[in-house]
Formats: sequence, structure tokens, C-alpha cells
Amino acid sequence: MSDLSGKKGLILGVGNQRSIAWAVAEYFHKHGAELALTYLSDPKGRFESNVRKLGEKVNASFIQECDVSDDRAIQSLIDGLNDHWGEMDFLIHSLAFADQKDLQVAFSSTSRNGFAKAHEISAFSLLPLAEGAVPMMKKRGGGSIISMSFIGSVLAVPHYHVMGPAKASLESSSRYLAKEVGPDNIRVNVISPGPIKTLSASGIKDFAELMKIGGAHSAMKRTVTQEEVAQTAVFLASDASSGITGQVIYVDCGYSIMAN
Ligand SMILES: NC(=O)c1ccc[n+]([C@@H]2O[C@H](COP(=O)([O-])OP(=O)(O)OC[C@H]3O[C@@H](n4cnc5c(N)ncnc54)[C@H](O)[C@@H]3O)[C@@H](O)[C@H]2O)c1
Repeated sequence: MSDLSGKKGLILGVGNQRSIAWAVAEYFHKHGAELALTYLSDPKGRFESNVRKLGEKVNASFIQECDVSDDRAIQSLIDGLNDHWGEMDFLIHSLAFADQKDLQVAFSSTSRNGFAKAHEISAFSLLPLAEGAVPMMKKRGGGSIISMSFIGSVLAVPHYHVMGPAKASLESSSRYLAKEVGPDNIRVNVISPGPIKTLSASGIKDFAELMKIGGAHSAMKRTVTQEEVAQTAVFLASDASSGITGQVIYVDCGYSIMAN
């Protein structure tokens, strides 16, 4: 049932081989899906070069730059996908951003711009992407939209700061989207992984400590892997999860259920 053959869709958020989005791309490819990927331009072109190389490994049939803080870039991505496929089955939103400065000050000192930027990139961006993807999903008789959150949305996690409210917004936005597109058989879910060592994670102060606590205080006494998150994404994009929408699914080795 967790088969994705014949399905096609977009994955945003591959930055390098450690990215959660990359594990998702590998697993989706392994389960038969056809993929479109995006990259964020950086001055040295590292993300583009990484994504183009990685894209070859999963036979990505479409690769395009997309900075989700730019409406024109999102529109150009949607136009490109309409030309390329005209229809799609899944959208994976695996990206987030907070200004380093705002992660290093007391939470109450978060800047106005930094607060807005973190929410714009990490949460708001799901809306225009979904708006563009939904008409293509309707042509397939349904679809699956998946994003990545963190337990910092509901608990005050040390040093997670502005990302906490941004993830709370992402989760709530997913529920409102799920209500809107549910009648079209389009499902919207959020995966909340435990801490994983990636490029974004390295921007959070004392992340190594967070990993240590995440493992030691979890039910399974270890942290989760990118691959375990990817397997859950396969399930949520497949027909095996046809009755599940509007949910936040913790993939954290049981950290979130522990009282300690
Ligand atoms: N690593 C963890 O511990 C962890 C835990 C829970 C949730 N998450 C979430 O998983 C998702 C993926 O993060 P990751 O850990 O794989 O890190 P990552 O650094 O590999 O991926 C983050 C991606 O966000 C992209 N991005 C940032 N700003 C962007 C913009 N303006 N436009 C387009 N793309 C942009 C980057 O290019 C990068 O590819 C994020 O939503 C993150 O919050 C991560």
C-alpha cells in the first residue's frame, strides 16, 4: 500500500545529503515516484550544484531555483510545473529559516523583521505553494501535502526561540489548509521529527545538547534518522494513509510522550 509508483510531485528543501528532504527524495524514488526538486540560490552556487548532482541520482525530471520569500519565484515554479506535468500528486515542504541574530538573543528581543521573516519562509510559504499545487492535484483526483515541524511549536525548547511560534503557525496553517482542500481528496499533514544533525540544525545554539537530551529522554533512548522521517513521508503520500489529514505526526522515538 505504501507504493508511490505512478505518482509525481515536488520536494522543496534539499540543500545537501544530510537534508531531511534528500532522504525523502531517495525514499520516494525508491518507491516509484517521479520527482521535481528545487534549490535555494546562494552566492557560491553550492545548493544548486548539490541539488543538480543529487537530482541525477533520483532521476529528477525537473529542477528549478525557488526562494520561497519571493512571490515571483513561487509563481515561476508553479508555471514551470504546469508546463512540465500539468498535474501532480504530492508537495513536500521541508524548509525553514530564522535569522541567526534572532536565535542568539533573548526571545523577547527577537527583531520585528526577524519574527516576520521566520514566519514568512517557514510557515506562510506553504500557502502559495499549496494554492499553486492544488489545481494540479485536483486533476489527479487528490493529493498529499506534507511539511516538517518540530516539538518547539508546543514546548519552549532551549534556543529554538522564534522558530517555535513559526512552527506553531505552520501546524495551524496545515489544519486550515486540510479543511479547505479535504473535499477534493487532498490531504495536508505535518511530520514532527526529533532532532537530527543537518545544516539548519547547526544554526541552533547547543544543538548537540538538544540531540543528547532528545535521545536520552525519548521512549526508545535514541534519536531518529532522516530515513525514518522519509518512511513516514512515503506513508503520508501513499494511499495507505488515505483517511489521515490535518495531523501532526511525531517521528521522534517517543520523546514527545515522555513526562521527563
Ligand atoms: N534537523 C532537525 O533537527 C529538524 C527537526 C524537526 C524539523 N526539522 C525541519 O525539517 C525541515 C528541513 O530541515 P533540515 O533539518 O533538513 O535542514 P536543511 O538545512 O538540510 O534544509 C533546510 C532547507 O531550507 C531551505 N531554505 C531556507 N530558506 C529558504 C527559502 N527562502 N526558500 C527556499 N528554501 C529555503 C534551505 O535551502 C535548505 O535546503 C525544516 O522545516 C526544519 O525546521 C528539522
